[in-house]
Amino acid sequence: MTSDILVTGGTGTLGRPVVRRLQDAGAKVRVLSRRSREAGEGVEYVTGDLATGQGIEAAVDGAEIIVHCAGSNKGDEDKARNLVQAAARAGTRHLVYISVVGADRIPVVSAADRAMFGYFASKLAAERVVADSGLPWTTLRATQFHDLILLVAQQMTKLPVIPVPAGIRFQPVDAGEVADQLVELALGTPAGLAPDIAGPRVYTVPELLHGYLRASGKRRPMVPVPIPGQAARAVRAGVILAPGRAVGRRTWEDFLAERVLSRA
Ligand SMILES: NC(=O)c1ccc[n+]([C@@H]2O[C@H](COP(=O)([O-])OP(=O)(O)OC[C@H]3O[C@@H](n4cnc5c(N)ncnc54)[C@H](OP(=O)(O)O)[C@@H]3O)[C@@H](O)[C@H]2O)c1
Repeated sequence: MTSDILVTGGTGTLGRPVVRRLQDAGAKVRVLSRRSREAGEGVEYVTGDLATGQGIEAAVDGAEIIVHCAGSNKGDEDKARNLVQAAARAGTRHLVYISVVGADRIPVVSAADRAMFGYFASKLAAERVVADSGLPWTTLRATQFHDLILLVAQQMTKLPVIPVPAGIRFQPVDAGEVADQLVELALGTPAGLAPDIAGPRVYTVPELLHGYLRASGKRRPMVPVPIPGQAARAVRAGVILAPGRAVGRRTWEDFLAERVLSRA
């Protein structure tokens, strides 16, 4: 297998294992990054910015398959638009996108909704850009990666008392397992909206934080904080969970044992 595959976001948490797995499958991989990087470990880097469109024509040129993992907390629909316009001109035969569970079920209506959950509206808009691109496409929605929960836990536990968003639960998933699934989809035929991928267990925020505190040998009191708005209500009702798709095997505790306990 020697297809030319472009991985946007190939330097990120999800993109790195995606690149490794594509290489293991024998693909020729190119990575888009905003920073210029030397080619290394069989990967070619192309410099470009999806937010402005700069460098994207060259990045997609000759890419038969694009795995679009680039993203940030804002503006993913604009990044997707710049990418699909260039990909359509380049004749890409499969565009694969990673989105988030609940993107289609969170009402982002008020300013409060947008401030806390605007990311989900942006992911849904990006999904629509992909689906309407005219290119053969596959979109996979995943729950939050362990790495993201860890980052948030590290930030929150810097405070002497942790404000905990009341009633919100997560079903974190291993980014490596999401990468496995995304690569399998990328190398298959375009599937449209694929079945969601979620981790093995649903946790309350205090459960996630207690796990982290235990693993890092810390103690902190927590206070529940109510989050206003329709979006928060939907999240409390569980729209960011996919209990029927708990296909991930690595638990939050497994992740902590490797990433936090081994360093403690
Ligand atoms: N993290 C989660 O829990 C989670 C859950 C579900 C879905 N997702 C989705 O999965 C994707 C990857 O998430 P991640 O956690 O791996 O992200 P990450 O670690 O923050 O990495 C983001 C990647 O996006 C690239 N990027 C950002 N803005 C860009 C721009 N304007 N132009 C080109 N590249 C840009 C960065 O590349 P450079 O810095 O090298 O330019 C980096 O490789 C995102 O689409 C995210 O929405 C994430």
